Amino acid sequence: MAAILLLNGPNLNLLGSREPDVYGHTSLEDIQKKLAQLASTAKHELQSFQSNAEHELIERIHQAKKEKIAHIIFNPAAFTHTSIALRDALVAVEIPFIEVHLSNVHAREEFRRQSYFSDISRGVISGFGVLSYELAMTAAIETLKRDKGTSKN
Ligand code: DQA
Repeated sequence: MAAILLLNGPNLNLLGSREPDVYGHTSLEDIQKKLAQLASTAKHELQSFQSNAEHELIERIHQAKKEKIAHIIFNPAAFTHTSIALRDALVAVEIPFIEVHLSNVHAREEFRRQSYFSDISRGVISGFGVLSYELAMTAAIETLKRDKGTSKN
């Protein structure tokens, strides 16, 4: 059993009502419930955290190291395109993570094509709405199996 952290950045607390044509009608609570189910079926535990504040996300990443979180699924939202501080936090804790976006960031404004996370992530899933999160959870579960298989412990 491993602990997985679902981390969501600014404005994602508004999912369901925020620009539904771009982000869909599903609330963040429903996404969290669905991912918790998927994690539990694979005998893992899911923790969830959303914040609109950069420093709170950084603190949560630091805490994840102490809690021995094995994998992070992260939608940094607008911080994707701006936050060197969050990037540095993820590099510092050395916890593998998957970058997730509901929308296809490459099919939108030019500024959304720049990510401070993609090159240090295990992988990026973008453009499938809520399914992006579900695919990320599937990938995290498979990655954990693979990492366990290659672990020297
Ligand atoms: C987002 C894409 C970002 O560009 C945007 O700022 C968001 C959400 C997505 O999930 O599609 O807030 O990360």
